[in-house]
Amino acid sequence: MSSSALPRDSFHSRIGFVLAAAGSAIGLGNIWGFPTQAANNGGGAFLFVYLIVTLLLALPALYAEVYIGNQAQKNPVSALAEACGNGSKRLGRNAGIIGLVGAIMMLSFYTIVAGWMLAHALSALTALMGFTDISNWLSTSSTLRNLVFTPVFIVLGAGIIHQGVHGGIERWSSRLMPMLLLMLIGLIVYILQLEGAQAGLALYLIPDFAQVSDPKLIISAMGQAFFSLSIGVGGMMVYGSYMKKGQDLGKLVVSIAALDTFIAFLAGLLIIPALFVAQHAGQEVFTNGHLIGEGQLIFQILPSLFATMGMGGLLVSFSFFTLLSIAALTSTISSTEVPVAYLVEDKNMNRKGATWLISAVVLVASMLLIAFFDLLFGLVIQMLTTILQPLMSLFYFIVVGWIWQRGNKLTDVAQLQENTKLRFFGFYLRYICPILLIIVFINVAF
Ligand code: PHE
Repeated sequence: MSSSALPRDSFHSRIGFVLAAAGSAIGLGNIWGFPTQAANNGGGAFLFVYLIVTLLLALPALYAEVYIGNQAQKNPVSALAEACGNGSKRLGRNAGIIGLVGAIMMLSFYTIVAGWMLAHALSALTALMGFTDISNWLSTSSTLRNLVFTPVFIVLGAGIIHQGVHGGIERWSSRLMPMLLLMLIGLIVYILQLEGAQAGLALYLIPDFAQVSDPKLIISAMGQAFFSLSIGVGGMMVYGSYMKKGQDLGKLVVSIAALDTFIAFLAGLLIIPALFVAQHAGQEVFTNGHLIGEGQLIFQILPSLFATMGMGGLLVSFSFFTLLSIAALTSTISSTEVPVAYLVEDKNMNRKGATWLISAVVLVASMLLIAFFDLLFGLVIQMLTTILQPLMSLFYFIVVGWIWQRGNKLTDVAQLQENTKLRFFGFYLRYICPILLIIVFINVAF
């Protein structure tokens, strides 16, 4: 049956939108990526730059993305086509498709990493039940483990998504998000009582201002901020489109960014002291100021740290990796929603069919990544976060600031003249944001 005759599904409340969007933003990027990057880039200095970059660049980009979706009330492909007007409709549509491909790229590696989280959570659970062999298998990285847990995670996500916007996404996000916050705080309280934690706390909270102007640090912080706020693949645009028009988007976007940044901050407050606790207990954590194992930090250091806590440690391990799986799930949902909304609205598919079709595509893509892991895994992450996401953000700035005319308050001369705040913001989005982003590109290229 064609779904175009049905009214569009939507969030039933503003808080529903905020929770879902925060659920999209808060994920492996915050809890896994951010602390790793912070620990590798001087702790406090990274935190300091990250906060500034989020405020100056990521926040306006998030606004632009949500604004386009909210005004158009359409999926990202149609929304961008509409915003580009008759003259550049094709350009907008193609950009939307590129974003959609970005969403699938994101899913192809994200579901693999999320599968690792799931496996580690189950590893703790099976250890608690006394199945040592199974537990060891679950906590050891292997192709077979990937082949099992990536599909499990994809099916979990699809199961929620096909229930629709209100029944699925809104309901689950509002349940899972507060749980996540509580678990994180509980773990921080626990870790901070352990010996060695104070040194980690100091590294994290006291910035070394000599490092703040390091271009490498600034670029890492910027990439991290874009990924963390889910900007540039259309996930936030599609959520914006599920909210009724005429909301005060500025406030909503600020609260999402604040929640996301707060969770990243808390994750740092947990992981960095935890590293120092591990070091205090005699483990080698840093070599030459760099974390050993880089991105493998959580999988190498934390399980052994938890293991030193005895049976209680298994519980901590279980809750920690469950927390990460939950965070990954709500992020996965928003990325999947991008192609699903496109197929439902523009290609007249039903929601269930579209969800399973996209899940099948993601499954094939992630299996390819698993098969050619060394070649593809890092490459896809890098292409997405350092090229595709920033380029799409630049495109959003240009659309909102320059191309989109009809119904856009940011290019409406009369409205801008009346409203000083809007005029300032319009100027900022039109000129400063693209220039800042181009500077970053130049820095990345050279
Ligand atoms: N923001 C998510 C995280 O921090 C990742 C994400 C990127 C989600 C892009 C959706 C789109 O883990």
